[in-house]
Amino acid sequence: MKRTEIKDALALTTYGQRINVRGWVRSRRGNKNVSFIALNDGSTIKNIQIVADLATSDGCSSEGKRFSEEELKLVTTGACISATGSLVESMGKGQTVEIHADEIEVYGTADPDTYPLQKKGHSLEYLREIAHLRPRTNTFGAILRIRHNMAIAIHTYFHEHGYFYFHTPLITASDCEGAGQMFQVTTKNLYNIKRDKQGQIDYSDDFFGKMTALTVSGQLEGELGAMALGKIYTFGPTFRAENSNTPRHLAEFWMIEPEVAFIQKDELMDLEEDFLKYCVRWALDNCQDDLQFLNDMFDKGLIERLKSVVDTEFIRLPYTEGIDILQAAIRNGKKFEFPCNWGDDLASEHERYLVEEHFGKPVIMTDYPKEIKAFYMKLNDDRKTVQGTDVLFPSIGEIIGGSVREESYDKLMAEIERRQIPMKDMWWYLDTRRFGSAPHAGFGLGFERLMLFVTGMQNIRDVIPFPRTPKNAEF
Ligand code: 4AD
Ligand code: MG
Repeated sequence: MKRTEIKDALALTTYGQRINVRGWVRSRRGNKNVSFIALNDGSTIKNIQIVADLATSDGCSSEGKRFSEEELKLVTTGACISATGSLVESMGKGQTVEIHADEIEVYGTADPDTYPLQKKGHSLEYLREIAHLRPRTNTFGAILRIRHNMAIAIHTYFHEHGYFYFHTPLITASDCEGAGQMFQVTTKNLYNIKRDKQGQIDYSDDFFGKMTALTVSGQLEGELGAMALGKIYTFGPTFRAENSNTPRHLAEFWMIEPEVAFIQKDELMDLEEDFLKYCVRWALDNCQDDLQFLNDMFDKGLIERLKSVVDTEFIRLPYTEGIDILQAAIRNGKKFEFPCNWGDDLASEHERYLVEEHFGKPVIMTDYPKEIKAFYMKLNDDRKTVQGTDVLFPSIGEIIGGSVREESYDKLMAEIERRQIPMKDMWWYLDTRRFGSAPHAGFGLGFERLMLFVTGMQNIRDVIPFPRTPKNAEF
């Protein structure tokens, strides 16, 4: 018999219809007359209840199939079953239908003595240790369905706005952000490395004939796409070997990077704001059950916070004014762990002070000192600041890093030389400024930072199926 997904089964009202559902047993309880099986197949956070009548010892025979204890012995928490029976209106509260089973097949058993997800309410820390099974919990089912929805929202937004999905390479020879946080890619025998006379590693016999690494960003190639297709976006994995064990950093994360020709700073900020609001609205519109669950279980303010972002106008704040606000706060007794003088990179505590305490809404911070930003950002007339446009979010801090790009060949070249970035790796990027250069701008959204915001989770390890962090590449 054809399987009905539980999400669809729960919406049926054709009582009496015989249907088949398949999934994993969340629990089985009951008494000597009847067994109630809560079944979940991942299509929705809701379980469907399977009712199995038991053959009682007095042998009383009423209509319908009666199961023996022996037949149901293997229907334990975690087991995978197929259940067939008639759809009936449910008496139980919180559910509209259930299935009165006449056939139950066990696909895969789960030994109650060793199945790790026995009880409800395991800690998130424990669940990280069993990341191979945690998608079967309510919490991770909800998070992973929301994650899928966010990916669809992102593709839909860009497609509907005329952007082209542009695939940039994961293996690269250039360090986009210039922070030296790259994972090397090599087929060399690490026990027997060839070196030149100066003792430097000789890559000529390596797979690519040069030093290569996993990309930290698709932006540089994305700019090439924008200089031909006008509006592109990337959406793929990025890698950073930054040894920061924080709740907001992953060594492997997904990034969305739109790049747009012919726009300036204001239009870039409009895009950042419109895009983020679209994604959050999508979650509110399409993930109600899962958001409600996370709201009830973890974060009572979640849905309100999501609505508030959709309904509010973001603050646009030059870095210099931000520093003034922070210093005024310090004068008034506010204590920060890290210094924040003009020229310092803002720490997450500073970003969150501005967003959560001072303004109470998202902030787009602009015009940063050039020394704390990447080489490609457009220099302002003051020659001290660049046209960065980072978006700072409540409870997250930086969610988007963006900028107008320096389109002048001479200015870009001067900055590359000043930073001593090796030219031989950059010739192709510089060609965009040699041949038909154009004003353009773009940003990068950390997908898992968006996921943190939308789910209200506190740790980035809990919004990606299999997190990669320092000293952790399990699963
Ligand atoms: O600010 P970042 O480093 O900017 C770039 O990579 C630019 N090339 C983007 C562009 O303009 N096209 O990173 C962008 C975003 C950050 O704002 C943050 O949300 C996320 O990527 N991010 C991380 N997310 C998780 N773990 C990490 N280690 C991250 N590093 C950055
Ligand atoms: Mg950044």
